[in-house]
Amino acid sequence: MLTAADFRGQFPFFTAHPDWVYLDNAATAHKPQTVIERELAFYQHQNSNVHRAAHGLAHEATRAFEQARSTVHQFLNPAADSQLIWTAGTTAGFNQLAFGLMGTLLQPGDRILLTALEHHANIVPWQFHCERYGIQIDVVPLDSENRLDLVAFHQLLEHKPKVVSISHVSNGLGHIQPIRQLVAAAKAVGALTIIDGAQGISAGPLDLAAIDCDFYLFSGHKLYAPTGIGALYGKTAALQLLRPLMYGGEMIKQVSFTGTVLNDLPYRLEAGTPNIAGALGLAAAVEFLQRFDPEVLQQHKQQLLQRLHQGCAQIPGLQLLSGLEDNAGIVSLVLPGEHPSDLATLLDQQKIAVRAGTHCAMPLYAALQQPGAVRLSLAPYNNIAEVDAAIAALAQAVELF
Ligand SMILES: Cc1ncc(COP(=O)(O)O)c(C=O)c1O
Repeated sequence: MLTAADFRGQFPFFTAHPDWVYLDNAATAHKPQTVIERELAFYQHQNSNVHRAAHGLAHEATRAFEQARSTVHQFLNPAADSQLIWTAGTTAGFNQLAFGLMGTLLQPGDRILLTALEHHANIVPWQFHCERYGIQIDVVPLDSENRLDLVAFHQLLEHKPKVVSISHVSNGLGHIQPIRQLVAAAKAVGALTIIDGAQGISAGPLDLAAIDCDFYLFSGHKLYAPTGIGALYGKTAALQLLRPLMYGGEMIKQVSFTGTVLNDLPYRLEAGTPNIAGALGLAAAVEFLQRFDPEVLQQHKQQLLQRLHQGCAQIPGLQLLSGLEDNAGIVSLVLPGEHPSDLATLLDQQKIAVRAGTHCAMPLYAALQQPGAVRLSLAPYNNIAEVDAAIAALAQAVELF
């Protein structure tokens, strides 16, 4: 059986840069050789546009592109009546959703429900469009353990929001939300349910048929795939509610100056030439992952998380914002009185790559009453030696302050 060490062995970055300890996986993950080779092979041997030309190369590119869609869709254990739309990533997906639901599902006077720990991608597009349409945004607060306040969540559902949009895993803290339970409660009041899967996509096997959400969004680059490609999974009925955000070629059936007939799903939401190599790279990342036992990878990551969390907790003066329970692999911490970026700079000097700041989740840090945090985020290719090096570097940095 393939181990976590075998997994690491597939990523050329670690061979090229054995001196770096990469604990910034929540920002973006490294790419395995097969993903890099798939993109290269497309440009070397298959390069053509999809869904247009009448030659064999274009047919082959189209076949590979649509096969990639099917591979990624099936990886999600999708509901029977669902489809996968290619996007440029999670942010692009949210912009499509927020724009696309205004005036179709959402009408002036409606309410939508977000939470205090959302990434800006699941806040700002809503804010922009809701303000113009006169739609109210309610926000689920955090409880004393920096997790969603479930009592408040249920109370806010009494306002009958038309949309409930929540993250699967908090990118600021690593906490995994009980999304199955949240989706069921939201559906019980008739809300359309949206899950931000940017971090959740790499947190273990998904079962979207069981979760039963209307939409699930993610970015390929956090799942070992290239940047600039992502997906918007949706139930067909929910996707049909969306007004396209982008207009142009590919998304039409017929165009004349007296009017245009739009194409069917999924093409209706995919205007212009898509990121073909990116889609093939994302499918290659999925096929790569499918060679490993997800249990082995997740168990390894959880062991690293425990060691990292305990090691950080033992450094006098550090305050941990992330709990260990239901955590996808993130330790967020602060050194009270010091700015997180100063701590991160000292770690950087020891070649420990972390992120510092508010992690595109300013309302979360406002709720936590912190200026931001240092975030150490794990992937299954990390190892114990790297975790120990990070703990030692943190202890040394804290000494210096
Ligand atoms: C929870 C969450 N949502 C949305 C995003 C936005 O993803 P992208 O920048 O790939 O569009 C991120 C990226 O960090 C994230 O962590």
